[in-house]
Amino acid sequence: MPSERKNMPKNMTGKLYQTLKGKTFETPAIWLMRQAGRYLPEYLETRAKAGSFLDLCYTPELASEVTLQPIRRYGFDAAILFSDILTVPHALGQHLEFAQNHGPQLGELPPLDSVDFSMFHVNLSPVYEAVSTIRAQLNKEGFSSTDLIGFSGAPWTLACYMVDRQGSKDFAKTRIMALTDEPKFQRLVDILVEAISVYLAHQINRGANVIQIFDSWAGVLPPDQFRKWVIAPTQKIVSNLHATHPDTPIIGFPKGAGFLYDEYVKKTGVTAVGLDTQTPPEYAAKNLLPLCPVQGNLDPFTLMAGGAELDHQTDIIKSTFAGKPYIFNLGHGIDKDTPPENVARLIQRVRAA
Ligand code: CP3
Repeated sequence: MPSERKNMPKNMTGKLYQTLKGKTFETPAIWLMRQAGRYLPEYLETRAKAGSFLDLCYTPELASEVTLQPIRRYGFDAAILFSDILTVPHALGQHLEFAQNHGPQLGELPPLDSVDFSMFHVNLSPVYEAVSTIRAQLNKEGFSSTDLIGFSGAPWTLACYMVDRQGSKDFAKTRIMALTDEPKFQRLVDILVEAISVYLAHQINRGANVIQIFDSWAGVLPPDQFRKWVIAPTQKIVSNLHATHPDTPIIGFPKGAGFLYDEYVKKTGVTAVGLDTQTPPEYAAKNLLPLCPVQGNLDPFTLMAGGAELDHQTDIIKSTFAGKPYIFNLGHGIDKDTPPENVARLIQRVRAA
Protein backbone atom coordinates (compact mmCIF):
# COMPACT_ATOMS: atom_id res chain seq x y z
CA MET A 1 0.00 0.00 0.00
CA PRO A 2 1.47 3.37 -0.96
CA SER A 3 1.81 5.88 1.83
CA GLU A 4 2.20 9.15 -0.01
CA ARG A 5 -0.08 11.98 1.13
CA LYS A 6 -1.54 14.57 -1.15
CA ASN A 7 -2.94 18.03 -0.39
CA MET A 8 -2.32 17.74 3.32
CA PRO A 9 0.79 19.04 5.04
CA LYS A 10 1.76 16.58 7.77
CA ASN A 11 1.43 19.03 10.65
CA MET A 12 -2.01 20.37 9.73
CA THR A 13 -4.19 18.62 12.28
CA GLY A 14 -7.22 19.76 14.21
CA LYS A 15 -8.90 19.24 17.53
CA LEU A 16 -10.33 15.81 16.66
CA TYR A 17 -6.95 14.42 15.62
CA GLN A 18 -5.21 15.87 18.65
CA THR A 19 -7.84 14.45 21.00
CA LEU A 20 -7.26 11.04 19.42
CA LYS A 21 -3.57 11.47 20.28
CA GLY A 22 -4.56 11.98 23.92
CA LYS A 23 -4.66 15.77 24.15
CA THR A 24 -7.42 17.35 26.23
CA PHE A 25 -9.23 20.65 25.67
CA GLU A 26 -11.39 22.92 27.76
CA THR A 27 -14.37 22.02 25.56
CA PRO A 28 -14.50 18.85 23.47
CA ALA A 29 -14.11 18.46 19.70
CA ILE A 30 -17.49 17.89 18.07
CA TRP A 31 -18.78 16.28 14.86
CA LEU A 32 -21.97 14.29 14.26
CA MET A 33 -22.48 10.99 12.47
CA ARG A 34 -24.46 11.69 9.25
CA GLN A 35 -23.84 15.42 9.70
CA ALA A 36 -24.29 15.81 5.93
CA GLY A 37 -27.76 14.58 5.08
CA ARG A 38 -31.44 15.06 4.62
CA TYR A 39 -32.05 17.30 7.66
CA LEU A 40 -30.20 20.07 5.76
CA PRO A 41 -32.14 21.93 3.02
CA GLU A 42 -28.91 22.55 1.09
CA TYR A 43 -28.26 18.77 1.03
CA LEU A 44 -31.72 18.11 -0.42
CA GLU A 45 -31.01 20.65 -3.12
CA THR A 46 -27.70 19.07 -4.16
CA ARG A 47 -29.22 15.59 -3.85
CA ALA A 48 -32.00 16.58 -6.30
CA LYS A 49 -29.38 17.86 -8.74
CA ALA A 50 -27.39 14.63 -8.51
CA GLY A 51 -30.29 12.39 -9.47
CA SER A 52 -29.66 9.23 -7.50
CA PHE A 53 -27.97 8.83 -4.13
CA LEU A 54 -25.21 6.73 -5.73
CA ASP A 55 -24.59 9.44 -8.36
CA LEU A 56 -24.10 11.83 -5.47
CA CYS A 57 -21.56 9.45 -3.87
CA TYR A 58 -19.69 8.87 -7.15
CA THR A 59 -19.47 12.48 -8.37
CA PRO A 60 -16.46 13.98 -6.53
CA GLU A 61 -17.56 17.65 -6.88
CA LEU A 62 -21.04 16.89 -5.52
CA ALA A 63 -19.77 14.60 -2.75
CA SER A 64 -17.35 17.37 -1.80
CA GLU A 65 -20.11 19.99 -1.86
CA VAL A 66 -22.35 18.05 0.57
CA THR A 67 -19.39 17.21 2.83
CA LEU A 68 -18.62 20.93 3.16
CA GLN A 69 -22.23 22.02 3.80
CA PRO A 70 -22.37 21.22 7.54
CA ILE A 71 -18.85 22.63 7.98
CA ARG A 72 -19.87 25.99 6.50
CA ARG A 73 -23.11 26.07 8.47
CA TYR A 74 -21.82 24.94 11.88
CA GLY A 75 -18.02 24.86 11.84
CA PHE A 76 -17.74 21.28 13.09
CA ASP A 77 -14.23 20.23 14.10
CA ALA A 78 -14.21 17.46 11.50
CA ALA A 79 -15.66 16.80 8.07
CA ILE A 80 -16.58 13.24 7.11
CA LEU A 81 -16.22 12.01 3.55
CA PHE A 82 -19.66 11.87 1.97
CA SER A 83 -20.12 8.33 0.71
CA ASP A 84 -21.76 5.15 1.96
CA ILE A 85 -20.49 1.94 3.53
CA LEU A 86 -22.15 -0.06 0.72
CA THR A 87 -19.81 1.26 -1.99
CA VAL A 88 -17.42 -1.56 -0.98
CA PRO A 89 -19.83 -4.43 -1.81
CA HIS A 90 -20.74 -2.48 -4.95
CA ALA A 91 -17.08 -2.25 -6.01
CA LEU A 92 -16.67 -5.98 -5.35
CA GLY A 93 -19.24 -6.59 -8.04
CA GLN A 94 -22.55 -6.81 -6.15
CA HIS A 95 -25.47 -4.90 -7.65
CA LEU A 96 -26.62 -2.03 -5.39
CA GLU A 97 -29.48 0.41 -5.50
CA PHE A 98 -31.07 2.79 -3.07
CA ALA A 99 -34.79 2.66 -3.78
CA GLN A 100 -36.65 5.78 -2.61
CA ASN A 101 -37.78 5.22 1.02
CA HIS A 102 -36.80 1.54 0.91
CA GLY A 103 -33.18 1.73 1.97
CA PRO A 104 -30.46 -0.22 0.17
CA GLN A 105 -31.27 -3.23 -2.03
CA LEU A 106 -28.41 -5.50 -3.10
CA GLY A 107 -28.18 -8.11 -5.86
CA GLU A 108 -27.02 -11.68 -5.46
CA LEU A 109 -23.81 -12.28 -3.52
CA PRO A 110 -20.99 -12.46 -6.11
CA PRO A 111 -19.28 -15.88 -6.35
CA LEU A 112 -16.53 -15.55 -3.79
CA ASP A 113 -13.82 -17.35 -5.74
CA SER A 114 -14.12 -14.90 -8.63
CA VAL A 115 -14.19 -11.57 -6.83
CA ASP A 116 -12.29 -9.22 -9.13
CA PHE A 117 -9.85 -7.25 -6.99
CA SER A 118 -8.20 -5.78 -10.07
CA MET A 119 -11.34 -3.70 -10.69
CA PHE A 120 -11.79 -2.77 -7.04
CA HIS A 121 -9.58 0.35 -7.09
CA VAL A 122 -10.92 1.47 -10.41
CA ASN A 123 -14.51 1.19 -9.26
CA LEU A 124 -13.81 3.25 -6.19
CA SER A 125 -11.63 5.89 -7.81
CA PRO A 126 -14.44 8.52 -7.64
CA VAL A 127 -14.46 8.07 -3.85
CA TYR A 128 -10.68 8.58 -3.65
CA GLU A 129 -11.02 11.60 -5.93
CA ALA A 130 -13.73 12.96 -3.61
CA VAL A 131 -11.34 12.73 -0.63
CA SER A 132 -8.69 14.86 -2.42
CA THR A 133 -11.31 17.32 -3.62
CA ILE A 134 -12.75 17.70 -0.11
CA ARG A 135 -9.31 18.28 1.47
CA ALA A 136 -8.44 20.90 -1.14
CA GLN A 137 -11.84 22.59 -0.80
CA LEU A 138 -11.63 22.69 3.01
CA ASN A 139 -8.25 24.39 2.78
CA LYS A 140 -9.49 26.80 0.14
CA GLU A 141 -12.49 27.86 2.22
CA GLY A 142 -10.42 28.53 5.33
CA PHE A 143 -11.00 25.20 7.10
CA SER A 144 -7.43 23.96 6.92
CA SER A 145 -7.49 22.88 10.58
CA THR A 146 -10.71 20.91 10.13
CA ASP A 147 -9.88 17.21 10.27
CA LEU A 148 -11.12 14.94 7.50
CA ILE A 149 -12.56 11.57 8.48
CA GLY A 150 -12.44 8.67 6.02
CA PHE A 151 -14.54 5.61 6.77
CA SER A 152 -15.66 2.12 5.93
CA GLY A 153 -18.20 -0.34 7.19
CA ALA A 154 -16.65 -3.19 9.20
CA PRO A 155 -16.56 -6.68 7.64
CA TRP A 156 -19.42 -8.00 9.79
CA THR A 157 -21.81 -5.13 8.96
CA LEU A 158 -20.94 -5.25 5.25
CA ALA A 159 -21.43 -9.04 5.24
CA CYS A 160 -24.88 -8.48 6.82
CA TYR A 161 -25.98 -6.33 3.88
CA MET A 162 -24.25 -8.56 1.32
CA VAL A 163 -25.88 -11.79 2.51
CA ASP A 164 -29.30 -10.48 3.61
CA ARG A 165 -29.26 -8.11 0.59
CA GLN A 166 -31.16 -5.38 2.42
CA GLY A 167 -31.63 -3.92 5.91
CA SER A 168 -33.13 -6.30 8.48
CA LYS A 169 -33.94 -6.31 12.18
CA ASP A 170 -31.93 -9.46 12.90
CA PHE A 171 -29.89 -10.31 9.75
CA ALA A 172 -31.06 -13.90 10.07
CA LYS A 173 -29.67 -15.10 6.70
CA THR A 174 -26.22 -13.79 7.50
CA ARG A 175 -26.18 -15.30 10.97
CA ILE A 176 -27.37 -18.66 9.65
CA MET A 177 -24.66 -18.65 6.97
CA ALA A 178 -22.02 -17.85 9.59
CA LEU A 179 -23.22 -20.82 11.65
CA THR A 180 -23.94 -23.41 8.96
CA ASP A 181 -21.30 -22.64 6.31
CA GLU A 182 -18.43 -21.20 8.26
CA PRO A 183 -15.74 -21.74 5.55
CA LYS A 184 -17.78 -19.74 3.01
CA PHE A 185 -18.58 -17.01 5.52
CA GLN A 186 -14.94 -16.85 6.63
CA ARG A 187 -13.94 -16.44 2.97
CA LEU A 188 -16.37 -13.53 2.61
CA VAL A 189 -15.02 -11.88 5.76
CA ASP A 190 -11.39 -12.40 4.62
CA ILE A 191 -12.18 -10.74 1.28
CA LEU A 192 -13.76 -7.83 3.13
CA VAL A 193 -10.77 -7.46 5.48
CA GLU A 194 -8.48 -7.15 2.49
CA ALA A 195 -10.78 -4.84 0.51
CA ILE A 196 -11.44 -2.54 3.48
CA SER A 197 -7.73 -2.30 4.39
CA VAL A 198 -6.87 -1.19 0.86
CA TYR A 199 -9.88 1.13 0.64
CA LEU A 200 -8.99 2.93 3.88
CA ALA A 201 -5.28 3.17 2.97
CA HIS A 202 -6.25 4.93 -0.26
CA GLN A 203 -8.47 7.38 1.62
CA ILE A 204 -5.57 8.22 3.95
CA ASN A 205 -3.23 8.68 0.99
CA ARG A 206 -5.68 11.16 -0.51
CA GLY A 207 -5.96 13.28 2.64
CA ALA A 208 -8.19 11.62 5.27
CA ASN A 209 -6.32 12.06 8.58
CA VAL A 210 -8.72 10.11 10.83
CA ILE A 211 -10.59 6.86 10.09
CA GLN A 212 -13.86 5.55 11.49
CA ILE A 213 -14.99 1.93 11.12
CA PHE A 214 -18.78 1.55 11.38
CA ASP A 215 -19.94 -1.80 12.76
CA SER A 216 -23.61 -0.91 12.94
CA TRP A 217 -24.83 -4.50 13.46
CA ALA A 218 -22.14 -5.71 15.91
CA GLY A 219 -24.86 -5.84 18.57
CA VAL A 220 -26.84 -8.74 17.08
CA LEU A 221 -24.13 -11.33 17.81
CA PRO A 222 -23.66 -13.54 20.90
CA PRO A 223 -20.22 -13.23 22.58
CA ASP A 224 -18.29 -16.01 20.81
CA GLN A 225 -19.59 -14.94 17.39
CA PHE A 226 -18.84 -11.31 18.26
CA ARG A 227 -15.24 -12.30 18.93
CA LYS A 228 -15.00 -14.19 15.64
CA TRP A 229 -16.79 -11.81 13.27
CA VAL A 230 -16.43 -8.39 14.91
CA ILE A 231 -13.23 -8.37 16.98
CA ALA A 232 -10.92 -10.61 14.89
CA PRO A 233 -11.54 -9.00 11.45
CA THR A 234 -11.42 -5.47 12.90
CA GLN A 235 -8.13 -6.31 14.63
CA LYS A 236 -6.69 -7.38 11.26
CA ILE A 237 -7.75 -4.17 9.54
CA VAL A 238 -6.31 -2.07 12.37
CA SER A 239 -3.00 -3.91 12.21
CA ASN A 240 -2.83 -3.63 8.39
CA LEU A 241 -3.40 0.12 8.61
CA HIS A 242 -1.03 0.61 11.53
CA ALA A 243 1.70 -1.10 9.50
CA THR A 244 1.39 1.30 6.56
CA HIS A 245 -0.07 4.42 8.22
CA PRO A 246 1.04 4.33 11.87
CA ASP A 247 0.06 7.96 12.60
CA THR A 248 -3.55 7.75 11.48
CA PRO A 249 -5.98 7.28 14.38
CA ILE A 250 -8.82 4.76 13.94
CA ILE A 251 -12.16 5.14 15.72
CA GLY A 252 -14.11 1.88 16.08
CA PHE A 253 -17.90 2.08 16.38
CA PRO A 254 -19.23 -1.37 17.39
CA LYS A 255 -22.85 -0.36 17.84
CA GLY A 256 -24.65 -2.51 20.41
CA ALA A 257 -21.46 -4.09 21.78
CA GLY A 258 -22.77 -3.72 25.35
CA PHE A 259 -20.70 -5.77 27.79
CA LEU A 260 -18.20 -6.48 25.01
CA TYR A 261 -17.16 -2.85 24.48
CA ASP A 262 -14.16 -3.23 26.71
CA GLU A 263 -12.94 -6.46 25.08
CA TYR A 264 -13.43 -4.83 21.66
CA VAL A 265 -11.14 -1.94 22.64
CA LYS A 266 -8.50 -4.16 24.22
CA LYS A 267 -8.31 -6.72 21.41
CA THR A 268 -8.86 -4.74 18.19
CA GLY A 269 -6.24 -2.08 18.95
CA VAL A 270 -8.49 0.77 17.77
CA THR A 271 -7.24 4.21 18.79
CA ALA A 272 -10.62 5.29 20.15
CA VAL A 273 -14.14 3.98 20.52
CA GLY A 274 -17.54 5.40 19.58
CA LEU A 275 -20.27 4.83 22.17
CA ASP A 276 -23.81 3.97 21.10
CA THR A 277 -26.90 5.56 22.64
CA GLN A 278 -27.41 2.79 25.22
CA THR A 279 -23.95 2.98 26.79
CA PRO A 280 -24.09 4.84 30.13
CA PRO A 281 -21.54 7.68 30.00
CA GLU A 282 -20.48 6.94 33.59
CA TYR A 283 -19.75 3.32 32.61
CA ALA A 284 -17.60 4.52 29.70
CA ALA A 285 -15.79 7.09 31.84
CA LYS A 286 -14.90 4.44 34.41
CA ASN A 287 -14.13 1.46 32.13
CA LEU A 288 -13.21 2.71 28.67
CA LEU A 289 -11.53 6.09 29.17
CA PRO A 290 -8.61 4.46 30.99
CA LEU A 291 -8.05 2.45 27.79
CA CYS A 292 -8.52 5.04 25.02
CA PRO A 293 -10.26 8.27 23.97
CA VAL A 294 -14.05 7.93 23.67
CA GLN A 295 -16.64 9.50 21.38
CA GLY A 296 -20.41 9.86 21.76
CA ASN A 297 -23.19 9.47 22.63
CA LEU A 298 -26.14 11.87 22.77
CA ASP A 299 -29.42 10.26 21.73
CA PRO A 300 -30.33 11.46 18.19
CA PHE A 301 -33.99 11.83 19.26
CA THR A 302 -33.06 14.03 22.20
CA LEU A 303 -31.38 16.22 19.59
CA MET A 304 -34.50 16.11 17.42
CA ALA A 305 -36.74 17.03 20.38
CA GLY A 306 -34.50 19.93 21.41
CA GLY A 307 -35.30 22.32 24.28
CA ALA A 308 -34.25 22.08 27.90
CA GLU A 309 -33.86 18.28 27.85
CA LEU A 310 -31.31 18.59 25.03
CA ASP A 311 -29.33 21.09 27.11
CA HIS A 312 -29.59 18.88 30.19
CA GLN A 313 -28.39 15.68 28.47
CA THR A 314 -25.61 17.60 26.71
CA ASP A 315 -24.40 18.92 30.07
CA ILE A 316 -24.44 15.46 31.65
CA ILE A 317 -22.31 13.98 28.89
CA LYS A 318 -19.94 16.94 28.84
CA SER A 319 -19.38 16.91 32.58
CA THR A 320 -18.95 13.12 32.73
CA PHE A 321 -16.02 13.30 30.30
CA ALA A 322 -14.64 16.72 31.25
CA GLY A 323 -10.85 16.99 31.25
CA LYS A 324 -10.46 13.66 29.42
CA PRO A 325 -9.66 12.81 25.77
CA TYR A 326 -13.27 12.88 24.67
CA ILE A 327 -15.12 13.77 21.42
CA PHE A 328 -18.72 14.93 21.42
CA ASN A 329 -21.00 13.06 18.99
CA LEU A 330 -24.34 11.27 18.83
CA GLY A 331 -24.91 7.62 19.75
CA HIS A 332 -26.06 6.99 16.16
CA GLY A 333 -26.59 9.03 12.97
CA ILE A 334 -28.61 12.22 12.99
CA ASP A 335 -32.22 11.64 11.89
CA LYS A 336 -33.60 13.38 8.78
CA ASP A 337 -36.39 15.08 10.76
CA THR A 338 -33.98 16.94 13.05
CA PRO A 339 -34.50 20.73 13.01
CA PRO A 340 -31.19 22.32 11.88
CA GLU A 341 -31.53 24.95 14.63
CA ASN A 342 -31.29 22.20 17.28
CA VAL A 343 -27.87 21.31 15.92
CA ALA A 344 -26.79 24.96 16.24
CA ARG A 345 -28.07 25.00 19.82
CA LEU A 346 -26.17 21.79 20.61
CA ILE A 347 -22.89 23.08 19.24
CA GLN A 348 -23.18 26.34 21.14
CA ARG A 349 -23.80 24.41 24.37
CA VAL A 350 -20.92 21.99 23.76
CA ARG A 351 -18.54 24.87 23.05
CA ALA A 352 -19.61 27.02 26.00
CA ALA A 353 -16.86 26.93 28.65
O1 CP3 B 1 -21.89 10.59 8.23
C1 CP3 B 1 -21.89 11.22 7.16
O2 CP3 B 1 -22.37 12.37 7.03
C2 CP3 B 1 -21.18 10.61 5.95
C3 CP3 B 1 -21.97 9.86 5.06
C4 CP3 B 1 -22.57 8.50 5.44
C5 CP3 B 1 -23.78 8.03 4.87
N1 CP3 B 1 -23.95 6.75 5.28
C6 CP3 B 1 -24.64 8.79 3.95
C7 CP3 B 1 -26.00 8.32 3.68
C8 CP3 B 1 -22.08 7.49 6.26
C9 CP3 B 1 -20.84 7.48 7.15
C10 CP3 B 1 -22.97 6.37 6.14
C11 CP3 B 1 -22.74 5.09 6.82
C12 CP3 B 1 -23.74 4.02 6.70
N2 CP3 B 1 -24.51 3.70 5.61
C13 CP3 B 1 -23.99 3.07 7.70
C14 CP3 B 1 -23.27 2.98 9.05
C15 CP3 B 1 -23.81 3.95 10.04
C16 CP3 B 1 -25.21 3.62 10.50
O3 CP3 B 1 -26.11 4.40 10.16
O4 CP3 B 1 -25.37 2.62 11.22
C17 CP3 B 1 -24.97 2.19 7.22
C18 CP3 B 1 -25.58 1.01 7.97
C19 CP3 B 1 -25.30 2.59 5.89
C20 CP3 B 1 -26.21 1.93 4.92
C21 CP3 B 1 -27.29 2.83 4.51
N3 CP3 B 1 -27.11 3.94 3.70
C22 CP3 B 1 -28.66 2.72 4.81
C23 CP3 B 1 -29.28 1.65 5.68
C24 CP3 B 1 -29.29 3.79 4.17
C25 CP3 B 1 -30.76 4.03 4.09
C26 CP3 B 1 -31.33 4.53 5.39
C27 CP3 B 1 -31.52 6.00 5.32
O5 CP3 B 1 -31.11 6.70 6.25
O6 CP3 B 1 -32.15 6.41 4.32
C28 CP3 B 1 -28.31 4.57 3.51
C29 CP3 B 1 -28.53 5.80 2.72
C30 CP3 B 1 -27.74 7.02 3.12
N4 CP3 B 1 -26.41 7.03 3.42
C31 CP3 B 1 -28.23 8.36 3.18
C32 CP3 B 1 -27.14 9.17 3.53
C33 CP3 B 1 -27.14 10.67 3.66
C34 CP3 B 1 -29.64 8.79 2.84
C35 CP3 B 1 -29.82 8.67 1.37
C36 CP3 B 1 -30.55 9.82 0.69
O7 CP3 B 1 -30.07 10.97 0.67
O8 CP3 B 1 -31.61 9.52 0.14
